[in-house]
Amino acid sequence: MKTFDTVNALREAVIAAHAKGQTIGLVPTMGALHAGHASLVRRSVSENDVTVVSVFVNPTQFNNPTDLETYPRDLEADKRLLESLGVQYVFAPTVEEAYPEPDIRQFSYPPIDTVMEGARRPCHFRGGGQVVGELVMWCVPTRAYFGEKDFQQIAVVRAMVRDLGFDLELVPCPIQREESGLALSSRNALLTAEERQIAVKISRVLQESKTWGIGVEETQQRVVNEINKIDQLEVEYYEIVDGTTLQPVTEWREDVVGCITVYCGQRPVRLIDNVRYA
Ligand code: PAF
Repeated sequence: MKTFDTVNALREAVIAAHAKGQTIGLVPTMGALHAGHASLVRRSVSENDVTVVSVFVNPTQFNNPTDLETYPRDLEADKRLLESLGVQYVFAPTVEEAYPEPDIRQFSYPPIDTVMEGARRPCHFRGGGQVVGELVMWCVPTRAYFGEKDFQQIAVVRAMVRDLGFDLELVPCPIQREESGLALSSRNALLTAEERQIAVKISRVLQESKTWGIGVEETQQRVVNEINKIDQLEVEYYEIVDGTTLQPVTEWREDVVGCITVYCGQRPVRLIDNVRYA
């Protein structure tokens, strides 16, 4: 496994792979890798000749400086995991390498990116588009792998791939969970042991809500109430939306997903999760 910190070194390796007719799988990450990332990487390794994993905490998608500062980082541990998974190339640039100049490109795909995360984190998807756009241009991947925990991100990236005519297959991968049901997230590392036990209840309520047999609006409200009743949990939003357009639905039908963001604990840690109703 080789680690590159410059775009030129990465591009050289990628160009050589393409010249040999090899397929390339790209797994974009912000590091602090866990079993959720490992599942994306395993899938890429099994489906491509070469897998490139980027490890880069992208500043342009954070709108809260403290969130950026406290985002967990451990490149050495990440590299050990990636090596054990059979990855060929790790790309871990500095901010200056990724953005030699301020990135002024605007990525905007309303109404997909104006709801939920997009409504609360104004630069989040623009910044995500900037970095994913760069990574795709540098790696020219055959396939790119994204986890469904960031459900809205996949929809935005899908819109970007279509808009810019990127010739790649977007591969959404199912959420990985602890046995307790807690969705795996790099941010879980910021939870105390006690907060972890509390955070488990988010997915529990979401799963239970599938059995309530009440209307969409009532389900939405009851999920919020049930979670807010739990000490140290506070829902930022819970929206039940169409799984493709991400616009709110009022009636149960096919392709409906509930997306939640909850603040957990003293710090607090912002956790997201989602549930597919049909
Ligand atoms: O999902 C993430 O970790 C990030 O948003 C991504 C896709 C790596 C872009 O920085």
